[in-house]
Amino acid sequence: MIGIIGAMEIEVAGITAALTDHKTETLCGVTFHTGKLNGTDVVAAKCGVGKVNAAMCTAAMILSYAPSVVINTGVAGGIGEGVKIGNMVVASHTVQYDYDTTAIGEPKGFVMIGSEGVVQLPTSAKHNAVLEKYAEKIYNGVHTGVIATGDRFVADPAFCLQLKAEFGAISCEMETGAVAQVCAVNKTPFCGLRAISDNANDEGSVDFETFAKSSAEKCIELLKDAVGEL
Ligand code: ADE
Repeated sequence: MIGIIGAMEIEVAGITAALTDHKTETLCGVTFHTGKLNGTDVVAAKCGVGKVNAAMCTAAMILSYAPSVVINTGVAGGIGEGVKIGNMVVASHTVQYDYDTTAIGEPKGFVMIGSEGVVQLPTSAKHNAVLEKYAEKIYNGVHTGVIATGDRFVADPAFCLQLKAEFGAISCEMETGAVAQVCAVNKTPFCGLRAISDNANDEGSVDFETFAKSSAEKCIELLKDAVGEL
């Protein structure tokens, strides 16, 4: 079973609408949708925005449905000239940029996976390759790189430069780092798939309003095509 998590309705509605044998169950306040997506068993959920919502949803999904992989899908802010609105991003790693224990001598973003501390949270190379292949095929290109996660809608070019300098981030959003941490602790393969809705700059909130829906739907279309190979 493939797990799919999006923060907002626009990031998952196209998946749940396409399910056959559609059933629902609500756990921890999250409604989980199960069924077949183009013939493949899927569990999909809208987790709500932010790291706590994302972590709760991921833990409940893994405990109840034991997905073979969890994909966090949706929109993100693009960082850097080349990462434009409408572009696809696959996470090579994710980081939690707002997890800050530097005052006690640890690097920024240093979170625990069991007894091991890491900054760069891993993603599944095998599943990333499938997402990248479909992104190339359908949208003629994909950026693979670090997605930076924190509980903040970023609309600040200086902060983008900081995320790039500190973590090598190519995009920013509010969930993947949390989903990745819960997956890593539970030894569940994880991928972050995003389409850019804005450039996290001064126009970020206006662009987000304009482009979030169409960008979210690009990820949904890709997942519908790719799900049989995941
Ligand atoms: N999701 C989409 N755009 C974003 C941004 N600029 N900051 C945080 N999350 C986002």
